[in-house]
Amino acid sequence: MKKHRLAILISGRGSNMEAILSAATASDYPAEPKLVLSNRPDAAGLQIATKHRVQTACVDHKPFGSDREAFERQMDAILQEHQIEIIALAGFMRVLTPWFVRRWTGRMINIHPSLLPKYPGLNTHQRAIDAGDPEAGCSVHWVTEGVDEGAVIAQAKAPILPDDTVDSLAARILPLEHELYPRALAEACQSLK
Ligand code: GRF
Repeated sequence: MKKHRLAILISGRGSNMEAILSAATASDYPAEPKLVLSNRPDAAGLQIATKHRVQTACVDHKPFGSDREAFERQMDAILQEHQIEIIALAGFMRVLTPWFVRRWTGRMINIHPSLLPKYPGLNTHQRAIDAGDPEAGCSVHWVTEGVDEGAVIAQAKAPILPDDTVDSLAARILPLEHELYPRALAEACQSLK
């Protein structure tokens, strides 16, 4: 079976990245992680990737200042070098420019901790609690120019309980993310040319 060359982009902890790396060890998984790329040199996920024997790279966004496209051109060059076919954003905390998004349209997915289209952007769990929602969850979606706006590939849900805080809710949702993302990524690979 064809295994698509995968890059995972991270900014921090990397627990979703690790869930994908673990799932991808299966012989019938349709993606092969070739690169973990971070915009932060201190991202804990980089060490986890190394433990999994996956090549890592870092393009620190800071020296680029407000020139987001220059930062992305550097990332793109590394992605091309590794002949990447699909990108999974996993806690990657930079908003991407239309230039980068267009370059990777149909080949880039993201995980977002809400039941999209509810709560794009930040502080999703707090917003769900404040709204009195009965449930919260996570979504894997295709990346388009509007932040967290692309078509949803798959979602998982959990109840919001009366005493929930952001932390307790996040702790309930995170394991669902880890189950959802590898599954949704496998599904996304089916639609690659
Ligand atoms: C996850 O909650 C993900 O949904 C969001 O950022 C967090 C990243 O966590 N986009 P991790 O780095 O995967 O542990």
